Amino acid sequence: MQTISIIDAKNHVDEKVKIGVWLTNKRSSGKIAFLQLRDGSAFFQGVVVKNNVSEEVFKRAKEVKQETSMYVTGTIHEDARSHFGYEIEIEDIEIVGESENYPITPKEHGTDFLMDHRHLWLRSKRQFAIMQIRNEMIRATYEFFNQEGFIKLDSPILTGSAPEGTTELFHTEYFDRDAYLSQSGQLYAEAGAMAYGKVFTFGPTFRAEKSKTRRHLIEFWMIEPEMAFMHQEESLEIQEKYVAFLVQAVLDNCDYALTILGRDKEVLKEYTKLPYPRISYDEAIKLLQESGEFPDVKWGEDFGSPEETYLANHFSKPVFVMNYPKAIKPFYMKPHPTRDDVVVCADLLAPEGYGEIIGGSERAVDPAYLEAQIKQAGLDVADYEWYLDLRRFGSVPHSGFGLGLERAVTWITGESHIREAIPFPRLLNRIYP
Ligand code: 4AD
Ligand code: MG
Repeated sequence: MQTISIIDAKNHVDEKVKIGVWLTNKRSSGKIAFLQLRDGSAFFQGVVVKNNVSEEVFKRAKEVKQETSMYVTGTIHEDARSHFGYEIEIEDIEIVGESENYPITPKEHGTDFLMDHRHLWLRSKRQFAIMQIRNEMIRATYEFFNQEGFIKLDSPILTGSAPEGTTELFHTEYFDRDAYLSQSGQLYAEAGAMAYGKVFTFGPTFRAEKSKTRRHLIEFWMIEPEMAFMHQEESLEIQEKYVAFLVQAVLDNCDYALTILGRDKEVLKEYTKLPYPRISYDEAIKLLQESGEFPDVKWGEDFGSPEETYLANHFSKPVFVMNYPKAIKPFYMKPHPTRDDVVVCADLLAPEGYGEIIGGSERAVDPAYLEAQIKQAGLDVADYEWYLDLRRFGSVPHSGFGLGLERAVTWITGESHIREAIPFPRLLNRIYP
């Protein structure tokens, strides 16, 4: 007899198998017990019929408590009524680890309670589905960039630079000097692009943002591709191709997870159709002003969530908003060739109110301009000499972007809060568990 995972049940119909599982829920009468089981690969039902098993086994089935771990032995049958399509008729139960008073019962719990029990909550069906999709998006990211000729370049987590501005830095000691947790791997990715042409970084990034919104994490994972000999228009094409690839990969490989989440697959299919619309920041401001819903919106301001949601709802697919005011963007962006009030950049806004999932730009190449920008941003030029070297020795037009993994997972899974998109979220008031 073979020991299998639940996910492989389809290959063992009418066979006798053994599976290591946890009990998620159960229902029983005098003659039959229905055990809801999970093993990390899928969820399905075990049926224990009193007349077909020993008295001891039926007693175990009736008494077993939520989250007890056990080996069940039995025969796989098709079960057309469930999401999963198969069940196991159990003959034997061997208890592995007892579980008493599991805190997360099948009834409703408040968010704080669930967050305090995140280490256990991860076992639930919805979380399982989200983590499956997150994993698929990570896998597809490596597939996409490798197939496009990129290599992964690991940027450091401990840094002495602040690419995205100084207000959101996490400070730490580095022996006898100061260091910061990385906000972005971009500057290092730029060095990588000058060495290897096309690179991407993919690592944790940290922002000491005092914002308590559905879209902000303190620690999040970012994918940052950087391409040498590339202008912004070509970068936008890679961005939309990548996002469509992620959505397609989830549609192809996460059908079970999408079904658990109740995510509309037809809606997702729309997002695989390219190109995505492109509008300028100027046009975005005009749309907002003409809507009548944002009477105070003025050219020069950054968009908040309501503005981004309004703009994205205008389109049925993600939309690029291009060329933002220079004053609200970081120091490294390329100035516009004919206007000095905007930079050559774009944010990609996701539909359905999920906001910005990508920020990117062409990079400034003139070392004198960059040095002035660094000073103006209140940064110490000495910390950026290495970065300026990239412009002194064979500088080329180059562009890049950053996709926030959790923003993208939240959008593709259709979750309402970004805390669900990462196993252990770091939020303004939470670092436990
Ligand atoms: O727009 P941002 O700040 O851009 C950068 O960091 C650039 N260095 C990227 C690049 O060009 N290489 O961040 C990029 C993306 C955002 O679009 C968003 O998806 C995500 O990172 N992001 C966050 N996700 C979760 N919580 C936060 N606090 C986030 N801040 C940014
Ligand atoms: Mg941004």
